[in-house]
Amino acid sequence: MKGWLIVNSFVKWDKFSEIYELLLEAGFSKGIDLEMKSSTDIFCSVQSGFEGMELPDFVIFWDKDILLARRLEQAGLRLFNPSESIEVCDDKGQTAIALQAKGIRTPLTFLSPKAYPSFGCTDLSFLDKAESVLGYPMVIKENRGSFGKQVHLAHDRREAEELIEGFKEHPFIMQEYIAVSGGRDVRINVVGGRVVASMYRYNDNDFRSNITNGGSMKKYDADPAQAEIAVKACEAIGLDFAGVDVLFGEDGPIICEVNSNPHFKTTLECTGINMAEHIMAHILKVMNGE
Ligand SMILES: Nc1ncnc2c1ncn2[C@@H]1O[C@H](COP(=O)(O)OP(=O)(O)OP(=O)(O)O)[C@@H](O)[C@H]1O
Ligand SMILES: [Mg+2]
Repeated sequence: MKGWLIVNSFVKWDKFSEIYELLLEAGFSKGIDLEMKSSTDIFCSVQSGFEGMELPDFVIFWDKDILLARRLEQAGLRLFNPSESIEVCDDKGQTAIALQAKGIRTPLTFLSPKAYPSFGCTDLSFLDKAESVLGYPMVIKENRGSFGKQVHLAHDRREAEELIEGFKEHPFIMQEYIAVSGGRDVRINVVGGRVVASMYRYNDNDFRSNITNGGSMKKYDADPAQAEIAVKACEAIGLDFAGVDVLFGEDGPIICEVNSNPHFKTTLECTGINMAEHIMAHILKVMNGE
């Protein structure tokens, strides 16, 4: 069985290379001929397609280059994860819509009205409605972000307006702050509809529990309700595998976000469980029609 591991050409960061290595090793140990290709390695015109390249049986798509992913699918390849699922995960607004469609609990969320580059958000009166429902502190996140860097807590109207003005035309969401979960959540790694590892993340100095942002982690067994909502979230978005962030709600778990390309090295360090091996086993099962 031959596979491509597609990675971004321009991101040169050990944090990413470590994940690629783990995936390549896991592929090798399962007898898969897995080759890493960067997005520019397979650069070609839309019309020529991937002509002249020896196409693999499947692709692990570890990038968010949705258009490239779509073209690979158009060439008949099975992508892990599919382009549509990656696209939904890469946009917190789309994630909220997809989860709502399946009745999966997320924090109460408002999506920003569309703004254009030449204008930005010129009239912030929509905040009246959001603040009357959500109150303060209010969580404000850019739709696209990583490692908690684009996630903020606005304590009053002035802070909310400053943040929104800083976003310019970039879309964002305004969200209920789940105070009981402040600074803590559970990262649940799901593969093929099953929880394979989970860890508790916490930060005593910040409401965001991301490890990259200074949070700590502990081994943790997801309880049945947390496991169930994480698996359902993946099903709703059509993911083969994901890292799901689950908040502690007063009356049960709430989905914070779903990551299609999770940085599972931290989970490996914390739990000893290598998600890459589960991903490869899942791919083999699917490709062998089991
Ligand atoms: N509504 C909320 N209420 C309480 N805490 C929240 C809320 N939203 C986010 N958090 C905290 O902030 C952290 C980061 O938020 P989130 O997972 O949405 O963004 P991110 O990790 O930066 O996103 P990405 O994975 O796309 O880079 C969460 O892990 C959680 O600890
Ligand atoms: Mg997150």
